[in-house]
Amino acid sequence: MSYPYQIKSFEAYQEAYQKSIQDPEAFWSAIAEHFTWKKKWDKVLEWNFTEPKVEWFKGGKLNITENCLDRHLATKGNHPAIIWEPNAPDENHRILTYKKLHEKVCQFAHVLKNNGVKKGDRVCIYMGMIPELAIAVLACARIGAIHSVVFGGFSAQSIADRLEDAKAEFIVTCDGAYRGAKDIPLKSVIDDALIGNKTVKRVIVATRTRTPVSMIKGRDVWWEDEMKQVEEKGITFIEAEVMDAEDPLFILYTSGSTGKPKGVVHSVAGYMIYTNYTFVNVFQYEPGQVHFCTADIGWITGHSYIVYGPLSAGATSLLFEGVPTWPDAGRFWDIVDKYKVNILYTAPTAIRSLMGFGLGPLQGKNLSSLKVLGTVGEPINEEAWHWYDEHVGKRKCPIVDTWWQTETGGCLISNLAGITPAKPGWATLPMPGLQMVLVDENGKEILQEGEATISGNLCIKAPWPSILRTTYGDHERCRTNYFATYENMYFTGDGALKNKDGFFRITGRVDDVLNVSGHRIGTAEVENAINMHAGVVESAVVGYPHDIKGQGIYAYVIYQGSHAQDTHGTGDLVRKDILQTVTRIIGAIAKPDKIQFVSGLPKTRSGKIMRRILRKIAEGETENLGDTSTLLDPGIVDEIKNGRL
Ligand code: WT7
Repeated sequence: MSYPYQIKSFEAYQEAYQKSIQDPEAFWSAIAEHFTWKKKWDKVLEWNFTEPKVEWFKGGKLNITENCLDRHLATKGNHPAIIWEPNAPDENHRILTYKKLHEKVCQFAHVLKNNGVKKGDRVCIYMGMIPELAIAVLACARIGAIHSVVFGGFSAQSIADRLEDAKAEFIVTCDGAYRGAKDIPLKSVIDDALIGNKTVKRVIVATRTRTPVSMIKGRDVWWEDEMKQVEEKGITFIEAEVMDAEDPLFILYTSGSTGKPKGVVHSVAGYMIYTNYTFVNVFQYEPGQVHFCTADIGWITGHSYIVYGPLSAGATSLLFEGVPTWPDAGRFWDIVDKYKVNILYTAPTAIRSLMGFGLGPLQGKNLSSLKVLGTVGEPINEEAWHWYDEHVGKRKCPIVDTWWQTETGGCLISNLAGITPAKPGWATLPMPGLQMVLVDENGKEILQEGEATISGNLCIKAPWPSILRTTYGDHERCRTNYFATYENMYFTGDGALKNKDGFFRITGRVDDVLNVSGHRIGTAEVENAINMHAGVVESAVVGYPHDIKGQGIYAYVIYQGSHAQDTHGTGDLVRKDILQTVTRIIGAIAKPDKIQFVSGLPKTRSGKIMRRILRKIAEGETENLGDTSTLLDPGIVDEIKNGRL
């Protein structure tokens, strides 16, 4: 057996699950024994959900990069750690062996140090999907700096907010990034983000698109120049910083029900052990296989299942710079054939979008290397599931539907490929160590009676190793967001069903958070951005079902600005101005799909917007809107219904 803790049968899963619940400390410490520690832990677990405080492997000393790199050098030094497929299919790909990656990470760790980065400092990373992104992430971990990767689609304003929140003093970026037919001017966005910023001392700029950029003396330096200085000295190694098990590894910002994204903090040991454990078990990874996770490293999926999970397992991880539909909708299948990909992990939204191109792009593609398929980020509809199964997996690849969150670090509910049963649309069973419960509004656990399927809000009763530790700079926010809704439980924000077999089906968010193409976006955040437009008085944003994105963004806007520039008087130009405003404030990913101008919003007498009504209208339900008698102005509902887009 390749990984001693790899579960190989349904019975073994049941046994592992039982053990993990009866004695979590014994269960997780047995797994932790298989990692490289500089010093073993004093205590496996200490926790309470009231503060909250969660400490795994307290007193243990380690460095995650020794587990991801150094420990594989003797046996896998010449094996590919990262295969990089560029945006353009005719550009040369790159392969970084474990030896090469180790060397580059060590060298860039020197660069960081030479530029003043110390243990505990926050480094913001804003790059496209090139190997240097993974190198930058790992180099931070090597010296104990806390990385905060910001997805390349976020605006200057979003970066500025994140820099300020994390009090980051360092940025690693690129001149630009390629994504399909687009060139994204990353450095120029960073320049905008830095107007007025007082904390950032150094910006390291890697070359990719060689688009002209401004380089400010004393602040901006080139990646290549800095690396050359280290290389010319013949340096290929740096001692790994000794980290405490509970030291923070990274911050990753994510949206919630308030206007401001929060910095989810993960710590070194628990995150490492859990992402490794789930990588090996969920995907049933076998040494030598090629794992292709199509997410961007700017999201948690990329952190956990492109970088840390696979590398800590000595796997080969494929990093793809481009998009699934460029130059054509057969790109994923070409990549699968080119590198004989064994595991393909993607989002339902990508599958639905590819389905829309029909079977043409699949013609002539072999795909026989595929062994396991996975999905993540949103519920998968059965049609997409069957299409994936039939046309990509050729009915011979188990599909894992992995439910998890930025805050959970790794998959919490998923079938194990080919080991535990799959059910289309169902994430199925919890991973070992996970005590999932469904509760009603009052936090009362809903118990199963007989064979009936139950429904409720999804909570977790006890910590797993990669639970978030805090929200950066504001522990109280972490408490109120996740641990205060229901006593002594972590609240996921999702609703779920549980059937007689103990399988879970996630039904979607129960808070004011949208899931657009697998990306989490807070309605309050979008409203704040829309309200920044000079002519907007007020707005309300809700989600509605969208064929490809899963959820689309529907905005109701009270607009009293000038229509003078709107030559046709249709409001279309104003709409475009609003979209431009949202793009500036958050990024293009948060642009509303529909904007309806209204003269008022349905509010209760206390001034609360009745989103339920707005949601129903956006969904196309105009009849059963429920009780509208408590509204301040019930007449507004008819106007909104009639103006529905
Ligand atoms: C939210 C978390 C986990 C990485 C990507 C998203 C939804 C996630 C599934 C799934 C149904 C899912 C949930 C969750 N979600 N995976 N397999 N089935 N819903 O991470 O941005 O932190 O969003 O995504 O609603 O709460 P995220």
